[in-house]
Amino acid sequence: MSVEPPVSIQPSTPSLTEFPAWKALSSHFKAIRDKHLREFFADDARRGERFTAEAAGLYLDYSKNRITAETLRLLVQLAEECGLQKRIAAMFEGEPINSTERRAVLHTALRAPRDAQIMADGINVVPEVHAVLDRMTTFANELCSGGWRGHTGKRIWNIVNIGIGGSDLGPVMAYEALRAYSQRDMVFRFVSNVDGTDFREATRDISPEETLFIVCSKTFTTTETLANAHAARQWMLDAFDDARAVSKHFVAVSTNTVEVSDFGIDPANMFGFWDWVGGRYSMDSAIGLSTMIAIGPQNFRSMLAGFHAMDEHFRTTPFDRNLPVIMGLLAIWYNNFFGSETLAVLPYDQYLKRFPAYLQQLAMESNGKQARLDGFPVNYQTSQIVWGEPGTNGQHSFYQLIHQGTRLIPCDFIGFCQTLNPLGNHHDLLMANLFAQTEALAFGKTSEEVKSEGTPDWLCPHRTFPGNRPTNTILAERLTPYTLGTLVALYEHAVFTQGAIWNIDSFDQWGVELGKELAKRIVKEMAPMGDPNLKHDSSTNALIRRYVGCRDGGGITG
Ligand code: F6P
Repeated sequence: MSVEPPVSIQPSTPSLTEFPAWKALSSHFKAIRDKHLREFFADDARRGERFTAEAAGLYLDYSKNRITAETLRLLVQLAEECGLQKRIAAMFEGEPINSTERRAVLHTALRAPRDAQIMADGINVVPEVHAVLDRMTTFANELCSGGWRGHTGKRIWNIVNIGIGGSDLGPVMAYEALRAYSQRDMVFRFVSNVDGTDFREATRDISPEETLFIVCSKTFTTTETLANAHAARQWMLDAFDDARAVSKHFVAVSTNTVEVSDFGIDPANMFGFWDWVGGRYSMDSAIGLSTMIAIGPQNFRSMLAGFHAMDEHFRTTPFDRNLPVIMGLLAIWYNNFFGSETLAVLPYDQYLKRFPAYLQQLAMESNGKQARLDGFPVNYQTSQIVWGEPGTNGQHSFYQLIHQGTRLIPCDFIGFCQTLNPLGNHHDLLMANLFAQTEALAFGKTSEEVKSEGTPDWLCPHRTFPGNRPTNTILAERLTPYTLGTLVALYEHAVFTQGAIWNIDSFDQWGVELGKELAKRIVKEMAPMGDPNLKHDSSTNALIRRYVGCRDGGGITG
């Protein structure tokens, strides 16, 4: 694809740091940065109800943040000065807001109702979206009813999704999140890494006769995915010694029909999507085929309805009541004013164990940028580092640092009022821990309180909790396909909000290219016994030689 260089020789807009709201926020920050959440709560008895917002079944309590009504007002003003409303409209209306790739960004069309009209390049894309959904539905039903059979006539019981990045993280996260709704007599596996272990472990105990591979790749050129897809085809051919088996055991999800058929998958067995769906925004496109097979078409559509409900909330709600906008602005507040480096996402639900990993790509591939839309460098930090683990496991590992470490780590806590697996009082214990953590992080424990418990003076500093650690709490009734849709869309749009304010392209990912190019070159240089003409730096040369020498058992050469 050819991309024209930026034409501007002058920045097209002033830097974010020159905006009146930014300047006002900088002064406001100085005024309140040392104020403790204890004081914020003491000042306003209704703070815990006031700083809340609700939409599409999600309740957001953001009262335990180091903000006042004035902070929120200024942050909203910043969003307005940055033209967030226009950016939102431009996205929903199919303008090419992915400017470096000259593409529309229309993942919201993937969950639009059948009768909606969303134009991209003069074409209403909604009928195409629903045509693919209908094909997926037919296929999922056929597969699950045993209508679609393998090469030897056996029913398919094992689904192996092959893909990486957005073609893996969404499907695996959604499968894990919605396991309670899944077809329990089927096996679902996900192969992403080019490490052969991933493929071998995923296939070691399943029968080729009963296995369907879904090869997911937007481009169908991704090295890891193609290597795994070729391994899968060989694995199948080893079992059948008949190339016709491929047609019954492979389907593809891609935008690239030519590459799919070159690989040997009949385009009739391909589910398409479009270049206006970014990889990390694709779990509700045909990339979600494994999800649909697992939870059934009806549940899949209910997930889409959840996404759509949050889309509509984001598109139409005033910023000060808009969940994704509030969360996006809070992230700006900590990232750019407090200098926080990370955001911990802590789901108190075992089913959401892959949610932080999913969000890592969503946030960091979207907003880990240093060039503004006009090509000039930013002079402020962009994406925070996203990480996390499900509660309560994290409490017994890294929460120590969040409570008493020297860094400020804002956290998002996510919990559900009803469990999908009632077991004794487990759920109360789980949720008590969630609430306790946000309370402890906000209010801490003063040295006076510690002393009054009879703690000797020398031990007091170690047992004191400074508190003033900001948290959001997101509560929903129950983890359902619908709720998952709302939750993912909430974060998608919070990430969008941040990108709009940072004035960057949240929808490209040029930063992954250099490593890919070098790997392609290096793999060719790994001829047996090494390539004496390596032209990398001395470290990379030595590492390649050491690897090749050791791999070939010929000793180590420097
Ligand atoms: O390398 C990054 C990336 O392009 C992601 O953005 C994408 O989700 C992933 O690779 C996989 O790409 P594809 O679906 O084209 O195989």
